[in-house]
Amino acid sequence: MIDGKTRTCALLGNPVEHTLSPVIHNTLAKRCGINMVYVPFLVEGEQVRQAVEGAWALNLLGVNVTVPHKSAVIPFLSGIDREASCIGAVNTLVRTEQGFCGYNTDLSGLYRALLAEGISVSGEEVILLGAGGAARAAAFLCALRGAKQVYLLNRSLEKGEAVAREVNEKAGRCCIRAMGLDGWKQLAGDQYLVIQGTSVGLAPHTEEAVIEDPGFYRLVHTGYDLIYRPADTKFMRLVRAAGGKACNGLKMLLFQGVEAFELWTGVSVREEDADFCYEQMKKVTDQQAWSVTKKEPGEHE
Ligand code: ATR
Repeated sequence: MIDGKTRTCALLGNPVEHTLSPVIHNTLAKRCGINMVYVPFLVEGEQVRQAVEGAWALNLLGVNVTVPHKSAVIPFLSGIDREASCIGAVNTLVRTEQGFCGYNTDLSGLYRALLAEGISVSGEEVILLGAGGAARAAAFLCALRGAKQVYLLNRSLEKGEAVAREVNEKAGRCCIRAMGLDGWKQLAGDQYLVIQGTSVGLAPHTEEAVIEDPGFYRLVHTGYDLIYRPADTKFMRLVRAAGGKACNGLKMLLFQGVEAFELWTGVSVREEDADFCYEQMKKVTDQQAWSVTKKEPGEHE
């Protein structure tokens, strides 16, 4: 029940209508016995400062930030976590006495999601598809968590090279190499973890995959698609058809939320509560599946 002691957490973004974050946080709050509510707020670009300051003035316990404000909020924070500063993007603001401190749980959430699937990027040879916002976070994850080598394949080579340069420089190790989308044909190995970070295959374009050639899928031992709408993408189907293991991005979304919730409340979320939350998220995405007719820019949260 909401009462005088209820604490509020918020999502700031644009758009926010299809977000699953309220499902995550309101479910976790109930399961963990925390008197807290989580509400989405639509924030226009020119009002990011007022939104952060307003959240502080209203005594909000914590804030999530999503597309397109993940970098724009940084100047209005009192502090920033080292890894988030390196990435240059935050998705979680934690209240401190001086103001909000920024964190990036997209990266740690993806790390935990991969671990939950039995995958550690450390020492892995990775093929990363894409160079947009979602793929960039995955590139930082690979570089900062010790991937052996990352081949970043992108339609625009120039954009891929810019991301590779930035991540290599900031991570202080030269492990990312940019290539065009057919760069896989030059690779010597035959066992890669592939992270699908492009927007190709998002609902309603469920019959598209960024690479269709079956030869590519013979190189994939595990395919992790950052997309979770639809739950079973064409990329995942192609991975499985070639004998690999395939996962969608819903667990990344779950764990970025779990990590934010833990930062705000100090509670350590139990595995059974995270599992319960995941089932609730699946129910909502299944219900929404029929009505999603266009890609929302906030898809990766
Ligand atoms: P997000 O923030 O969700 O990652 P984004 O920043 O728009 O979205 O990035 C989209 C990614 O999907 C990019 O890597 C884009 O490739 P380009 O950099 O060449 O634009 C990739 N992408 C989108 N449509 C594509 C298509 N039809 N074929 C190949 N790649 C595509």
